[in-house]
Amino acid sequence: MNSSACISLTEVTKVFKTGLLKTKTAVDNLNLEVPAGEVVGLLGPNGSGKSTTMKMILGFLKPTLGEILICGESSNNISARAYIGYLPENPRFQKFLTGKEILIYYGKLLGLQGTHLKNRIELLFELVNLKHAAFERVQGYSKGMTQRLAIAQSLLNQPALLIFDEPMSGLDPLGRIEMRNLISTIHAENPKTTIFFSSHVLEDVETLCKSVALLQKGKLKTYTSIESLISSDQQKYDIVIKNLSPSLELELFGKNTSKSVATGKSFSIEGPERLSWVISQLLKTPAQIIGITGQRRQLEEALFKASEVFTKTEMPA
Ligand SMILES: Nc1ncnc2c1ncn2[C@@H]1O[C@H](COP(=O)(O)OP(=O)(O)OP(=O)(O)O)[C@@H](O)[C@H]1O
Ligand SMILES: [Mg+2]
Repeated sequence: MNSSACISLTEVTKVFKTGLLKTKTAVDNLNLEVPAGEVVGLLGPNGSGKSTTMKMILGFLKPTLGEILICGESSNNISARAYIGYLPENPRFQKFLTGKEILIYYGKLLGLQGTHLKNRIELLFELVNLKHAAFERVQGYSKGMTQRLAIAQSLLNQPALLIFDEPMSGLDPLGRIEMRNLISTIHAENPKTTIFFSSHVLEDVETLCKSVALLQKGKLKTYTSIESLISSDQQKYDIVIKNLSPSLELELFGKNTSKSVATGKSFSIEGPERLSWVISQLLKTPAQIIGITGQRRQLEEALFKASEVFTKTEMPA
């Protein structure tokens, strides 16, 4: 094992008994090392084994075969759990308690007390943007607020490893963005903390993670850095421009390359160097840049090629 690995799975298999003579292999000979301090995304369609993998890392399920080490300690040891903060797939809390009472309860279970616990809770309410609802009963919390409270709970004892099982699931677009921002703030404020989270959505993984692991039918199909999936010179961008003179359009983009959009004309540009050059030319003129977005299709294609397993219908949404 690499000494700097925070999670190390060696030939891990989980077989469930599903009937008298029936079994289901949920995780199949999985080898994975997650370095300390990294944000790693676990991607895969429904039933590919993401939650089972996480539950084995947490020690909630025992692998049928193989070994899991957390910060060098076997996941079978209860003491290994002290390193981990966990956000389950569907967090549920005692609905008659307030957010604050819940954090006090879990904090005390972790052995925190007194001023230290009080200060930690205040800081966490601030971090997850729930200060205004600290004294409200959680039965009145929205899905996004419940997820954020669960994240605060997972951070109570400043764990070395955070395991988030689909932190964005069930959230509306704004909630997803808030959750993504929260995870990236947690990472920025705790650069030594390893974050291992699952998702169906490539965009979440792309914006937050350094590396991505792809599971299919319990098998690891790809484990690679986002950077190597798309080398930056292959990256394509869409740029939307207003007030572009026909002569400059011809000079920069050639003939008939634009698409009309509500806010102006949209052009496709390949590579960051060309993008910089186009921007520098536009800035010398009255043309207005309305927006620039990276084309996500690139990463999906790269992942598709790297795994060579996803059919179009199985591609994550
Ligand atoms: N306790 C269990 N008993 C029997 N089969 C199980 C059990 N838990 C999971 N499975 C099966 O193992 C496979 C992997 O399930 P898992 O929940 O790990 O998938 P997942 O990738 O988290 O899916 P999702 O994206 O839907 O959350 C599925 O086929 C599931 O039905
Ligand atoms: Mg799951």
